[in-house]
Amino acid sequence: RNLFQIAIDGPAASGKSTTARLVAQQLNFEYIDSGAMYRTITFAALKENLNPTSLIDSYKIINIAKTSKIQLITIDNGTPPLAHTSPPQPLLPKTRVLFNEEDITEKIMLPEITRNITGIASNPGVREALVVKQRAMAECVVMDGRDIGTVILPNAHLKLFIIADPKIRAERRLKELKRIKKMENLEMSEVLADLLRRDKNDTERKISPLKMADDAILLDTSGLSIEEQVERIIKLALEKM
Ligand code: C5P
Repeated sequence: RNLFQIAIDGPAASGKSTTARLVAQQLNFEYIDSGAMYRTITFAALKENLNPTSLIDSYKIINIAKTSKIQLITIDNGTPPLAHTSPPQPLLPKTRVLFNEEDITEKIMLPEITRNITGIASNPGVREALVVKQRAMAECVVMDGRDIGTVILPNAHLKLFIIADPKIRAERRLKELKRIKKMENLEMSEVLADLLRRDKNDTERKISPLKMADDAILLDTSGLSIEEQVERIIKLALEKM
């Protein structure tokens, strides 16, 4: 097959990107983190001192979304883990995010970006520009986000909607963020509040809201390990290939 699209949507930190990355790795597909693209536009807007919620700046921001070069480069993460590590950790492939050749992978995870992303994600012109980029990236692909199964790839061969208990999501995200410089002191309550605020905005916005597609399969990862999540999705994909 030279076209097989897997769409994975769901609320913030529900396990979408970790799962999507590993599924893509095992199937030898590309992985596209659409959230990283919204983060990139937010980064670019703030760098140019543009206000994500101002109507006047909105045109300049749309122009950035149309003309900027965003590259998502997923690197397989080397050798398998040592046999004696227990429990064995799956090796997570890493995605580097380049904006006009600048590596901004860590910068786009800073709280300043996350705080400002809502204005960018609800800007119709930005979404329109990213739809074009995202569709062009999609052949044998696993793409994750909020509107992939509903708007970006409505004909995806397999659609998943991944959810998890908010507390579990906040714990997972906190663990991930604490590894990044300048975020060692982040509090659990802060992360949880941010996730809930973003979920509310993502669900309630008019344009491309977070919503499960009618033909998506619901997967609650609250009690699942990463391996179990990946295994289930691979099985579903193989059945449909
Ligand atoms: O996936 P991640 O949490 O990095 O996404 C950051 C934000 O980007 C989301 O909270 C959402 O507002 C926005 N987003 C979106 N549509 C997508 C992916 C992300 O609106 N397909």
